[in-house]
Amino acid sequence: MSEPLILGIETSCDETAVGIVKGRKLLANVIASSVEEHARFGGVVPEVASRAHLEAMQPTIDKALQESGIKLKDLDAIAVTAGPGLVGALLVGVSAANGLALALNKPLYGVNHLASHVAVDLLTHEDDVKPTIALLVSGGHSSILQVNDITNEIQPLGQTIDDAAGEAFDKIARLLKLGFPGGPLIDKEAKQGDENAIAFPRGLTNPKDLADHEFDFSFSGLKTAVSRYLQATPEYVRADVAASFQEAIVDVLLQKSIKACKQTGIDSLVIAGGVAANSRLRFVAEQRCATAGIELRTPPPSLCTDNGAMVAALGSLAVSAGRPPSALGIEAASSISPAIPIWA
Ligand code: KG4
Ligand code: ZN
Repeated sequence: MSEPLILGIETSCDETAVGIVKGRKLLANVIASSVEEHARFGGVVPEVASRAHLEAMQPTIDKALQESGIKLKDLDAIAVTAGPGLVGALLVGVSAANGLALALNKPLYGVNHLASHVAVDLLTHEDDVKPTIALLVSGGHSSILQVNDITNEIQPLGQTIDDAAGEAFDKIARLLKLGFPGGPLIDKEAKQGDENAIAFPRGLTNPKDLADHEFDFSFSGLKTAVSRYLQATPEYVRADVAASFQEAIVDVLLQKSIKACKQTGIDSLVIAGGVAANSRLRFVAEQRCATAGIELRTPPPSLCTDNGAMVAALGSLAVSAGRPPSALGIEAASSISPAIPIWA
């Protein structure tokens, strides 16, 4: 099928999101976020997220259908995030998708959240997602992936051995009393600061660590270094700390991603996931990829953070590629390797 009409459902964290895609065209992208209910806790509370998904699921589907002018009966398939994520949150989307697929007698595709972050690239580019290196950086994950075929063959090259990049942003934002979620707030604060003010450590980049962790990340040492700096420097300049911390993360993410491109001979890099919305990461990536002769693709910031369009995009690619649908009654999985883009 060349231009399948797909409805995608995403409920892995705190966004109840529904996207509708035809082929590579985005027809609707509706997001109901419960982030404000979590802000006072300084992080996502799973039970609160699940309850919010239950309340928002049906109205979000209705709104996406209304926005796109699509009728449920016209859909070619339903796609849903089956994992990884918060299991109670995933269950709400997976149950809704199972119900829809059964009632409408449509194929169901349970997709990997990480692969769908990369697949969203489809919606903003004319040409196909070719073999590429993907830097996937979100609140729960930080990986470098070798994407040979986005619906079938993804090879993880490295990942974080402690915190995810987004998690590090959120923790440092808390230390700097900026609020939650921290990524966008640090991004904004850092614009007033000097990224070279403080030399924070670049985790797993010295030769000894590289031997075992060439494409892995570690951000816990950076978090400790920032925390120690704040304790030792009561008169610290918040914007400088934010900018220097952000620079340390950006530097390591790009050093390793570009090295992965060079080592595999793949001259294309997709940066995806919530942290890909970071303006400094996007700016430095453009510079370094241009120097290295690598084609850089970054989805628009609004499609970097969790959304339903990315799920529908991966569903669309799966249907176009003739991949078999998942079994009806699929279950949610809290953790699953990025090597499995579509559930059996
Ligand atoms: O992909 P995402 O929406 O959800 C997960 O799958 O985790 O990523 C959310 C993460 C949060 O940690 C948030 O702080 C971070 O992405 N983030 C950012 C920015 N916007 C969102 N981090 C840095 N700079 C940003 N502009
Ligand atoms: Zn995500």
